[in-house]
Amino acid sequence: MTTPRPETLAKLTPVLTKRWLSPDAWQIGTYEQLDGYAALRKALKAHPDDLIQLIKDSGLRGRGGAGFPTGLKWGFIPQGDGKPHYLVVNADEGEPGTCKDLPLMTHDPHALVEGVIIASYAIRAARAYIYIRGEAVHAARRLRNAVQEAYDKGYLGRNILRSGYDLELVVHSGAGAYICGEETALLDSLEGFRGQPRLRPPFPATHGLYASPTVVNNVGTIASVPPIVLGGADWWKSMGTEKSSGPMIYSLSGRVVNPGQYECSMGVTLRELLELAGGMQPGHNLRFWTPGGSSTPLLAAEHLDVPLDFEGVAAAGSILGTTATQIFSDQDCPVYATYRWLEFYHHESCGKCTPCREGNYWMVRVYRRILAGQGTHEDLDTLLDTCDNILGRSFCGLGDGATSSVTSSLQYFKQDYLDYIEGRTAPKLSEKTLVGAH
Ligand SMILES: Cc1cc2nc3c(=O)[nH]c(=O)nc-3n(C[C@H](O)[C@H](O)[C@H](O)COP(=O)(O)O)c2cc1C
Ligand code: SF4
Repeated sequence: MTTPRPETLAKLTPVLTKRWLSPDAWQIGTYEQLDGYAALRKALKAHPDDLIQLIKDSGLRGRGGAGFPTGLKWGFIPQGDGKPHYLVVNADEGEPGTCKDLPLMTHDPHALVEGVIIASYAIRAARAYIYIRGEAVHAARRLRNAVQEAYDKGYLGRNILRSGYDLELVVHSGAGAYICGEETALLDSLEGFRGQPRLRPPFPATHGLYASPTVVNNVGTIASVPPIVLGGADWWKSMGTEKSSGPMIYSLSGRVVNPGQYECSMGVTLRELLELAGGMQPGHNLRFWTPGGSSTPLLAAEHLDVPLDFEGVAAAGSILGTTATQIFSDQDCPVYATYRWLEFYHHESCGKCTPCREGNYWMVRVYRRILAGQGTHEDLDTLLDTCDNILGRSFCGLGDGATSSVTSSLQYFKQDYLDYIEGRTAPKLSEKTLVGAH
């Protein structure tokens, strides 16, 4: 285990995570003692348009994966249109490897509740929803408890803190489907329909929940709002890089000594994160990793010093995504890892469009063949050709994301595939997995 040097420890910038280790951090009393609801009091004295401008000035970008500028999104909501406006928080957190929103809601649910109230006030919404993953029972319980506490204290409901502003907040548990994290599928699910993506345009900003103007934001995005209101845009921008401002929760999993959440200014590198996490497990050397979940192209050991912000990761040929850094070593097989992810995408594909529905079905079968020692060289061309027909041709991002590990593992680790095909690596799957596969 490596002990982080002081200069690396200084990379930690606890903002969203700062209360997590306080005793009973999830209770409103603790939250209020630690700055809680001070930002709301300040925000309710400001004009909603000024709050939108503040978020624009801070450069905050969505923490749900795509990094869309948050203030710009809020600014798209038409004003004076006579329609109800909605804020919907995406707490589905289904991306494999991602583990930042659930701990936040479990340890510090009021941070999200306060962010919801301020964001709803800014976009003039009188009703907000938090759509939380069905399996996350513990986090949902904490969240519901926090919402009730907020109602009891007058932070939610009618005439909040005597400001004249009313807001109702509903916590809705989904049934546990990855596709319901896609924002339009989430809206359909919230409305009681089967969760499948909607055709865009029209976009949620004008035709979202119940065909009304809606902002959909990630948990981390909304929880960033109270600190920005309290600390100001310049303070927020003092962390991170020019186009990727603020701190970010990086969740490290896999072959590291201390897996967990590390909140650092954007632009930290994997080398630094590994040092914070105590290094690689003994006997393991870094071989490949995901910078932002399994939907982002794999990176290799040569990318240890890539700045983990939106631009830096893109320049290295991948995507920052959800900053779920999954670490694999020289004892892990990139072909097998990719196969397991594909099983996931195949299972979670909603079936609405042909490239994703059929493409993932067939790619799983090709991988099983390769891993059972019956692959051919043509299989590699088939995989690339299938990816070519999925990427950019699918109805939503799930299909695109499914191709990421296939193409990148073939780019960096083609030899591993050839070793199965040419018999140098022992099969990992038995021939039984091929029954019914052809
Ligand atoms: C298949 C799929 C799953 C997604 N899952 C999530 C999720 O669990 N949480 C999330 O915040 N965003 C998820 N997204 C991204 C959302 O569609 C959307 O971009 C995001 O909630 C916007 O919030 P932000 O601007 O605050 O990042 C997913 C996208 C796709 C295509
Ligand atoms: S890409 Fe996949 S998940 Fe998305 S609409 Fe098509 S079938 Fe459904």
